[in-house]
Amino acid sequence: MIEPIPNPKSEKPQVQCPFNVAVIGGAGHVGLPFGLVLCDFGHRVTLVDTNAAQLERICQGNMPFEERGADSLLPCCLESGRLHCATGMNVLSDQEIVIVTIGTPVDEYLDPSLRAFDQVLEQIFNHCRPGQLLIVRSTVFPGVTERLGRIVKERGLDIDVSYCPERIAQGLALEELTHLPQLVSGCTTQALERATEFFADLGLETIPLSTVEAELGKLYTNSYRYINFAISNQFYMLAQRYDADFDRIYRAITHNYKRMNGFAKAGFAGGPCLLKDTMQLASFNHNLLTLGQTAMEVNEGLPGFLVERLKQHHDLTTATVGILGMAFKGNCDDPRSSLSYKLRKVLTLDCRRVICTDPFVHNPDFVSVETMLTEADILILGACHDEYRELQTDKPLIDVFGFLPGKQP
Ligand SMILES: NC(=O)c1ccc[n+]([C@@H]2O[C@H](COP(=O)([O-])OP(=O)(O)OC[C@H]3O[C@@H](n4cnc5c(N)ncnc54)[C@H](O)[C@@H]3O)[C@@H](O)[C@H]2O)c1
Repeated sequence: MIEPIPNPKSEKPQVQCPFNVAVIGGAGHVGLPFGLVLCDFGHRVTLVDTNAAQLERICQGNMPFEERGADSLLPCCLESGRLHCATGMNVLSDQEIVIVTIGTPVDEYLDPSLRAFDQVLEQIFNHCRPGQLLIVRSTVFPGVTERLGRIVKERGLDIDVSYCPERIAQGLALEELTHLPQLVSGCTTQALERATEFFADLGLETIPLSTVEAELGKLYTNSYRYINFAISNQFYMLAQRYDADFDRIYRAITHNYKRMNGFAKAGFAGGPCLLKDTMQLASFNHNLLTLGQTAMEVNEGLPGFLVERLKQHHDLTTATVGILGMAFKGNCDDPRSSLSYKLRKVLTLDCRRVICTDPFVHNPDFVSVETMLTEADILILGACHDEYRELQTDKPLIDVFGFLPGKQP
């Protein structure tokens, strides 16, 4: 039997100017939540994506990934009749606003890989119509927006190009999209004004910048976080070398001491954005971003450090090691660039057996948490999922994050 779709009524204030909006990359982690929020505010939204299977799922009212609040908002948007899905760009001619949220990865040399992005923009230009506002929301290499503006001008296309970066934390998008200040920029004054009006109509505070400032602002945001995590991870490793408890030091030096407010917890700094964006910034600066590159060495070196430490205390050649949590962060189902996989790889070289579990990431090779607690000799926390908080075990459990107080190697 097909389960009925819940239909919570939205109480969001509606925008004054509802537009036809296409979100390119609309089935993705950035595009889909943003599309839902825009629809919830009264815009007529078409999610355009090449992933037909994902769109099919969305059309049936099922979220393809974890995003707090989206399971109930998606059916509501579908029922409103304002949310549509399409796999082709031919729908663009019906839109007033086109928003680009496709992935912008770095290549094997850690340089931005612009080809896919360029191809999508080429398709958009072939289908656009005069008077449209193009909002680039993917994280792009500085200068990309200005270059788009030049191409538009050269081709005589009558569209406004703006760059308005996304700064949400995955999983919290619906809340953050309606609260976070929005950086806005445009290749022309008109593009900037239109983008500003669009976001202000959602009730957001808007902050105007030049296009390159907005591009750098987004990369600075993620690089800053990445470097910040590296500070804590380096301090964690240092404490370990002296058999000191980093988490106790952390609590002590942040207690009632405002100057340490920004001090991050130690832990795996993985995921699809932080390292990638730090490397984009380095690439932009002709590979000179010493702090970012050092942060990469520290953060990416953490799994190997943990295994080396383990080897000092245990004979891993006879041990089964279990990794609790394979997603790149807690309460998330996204395994992209998760350091738990790097940990698994490093462990595999030294251990008799490595087993993995995750309540959100589905993989036939993973075991249940019960099996893990029975079969593993040593446990390592890979992602801080809430359901591990009350975990009971008398086995050694390594918790870099300080998520389970009292559990150290
Ligand atoms: N994930 C985050 O938390 C986050 C936060 C802020 C910014 N960003 C940035 O947003 C961008 C998107 O990231 P994401 O995590 O949503 O990626 P994603 O892989 O989840 O989504 C990208 C979507 O684009 C689709 N796509 C690819 N090529 C396409 C094409 N030619 N036409 C239409 N659709 C196409 C894919 O099928 C996918 O659904 C990146 O630039 C990323 O750096 C991500």
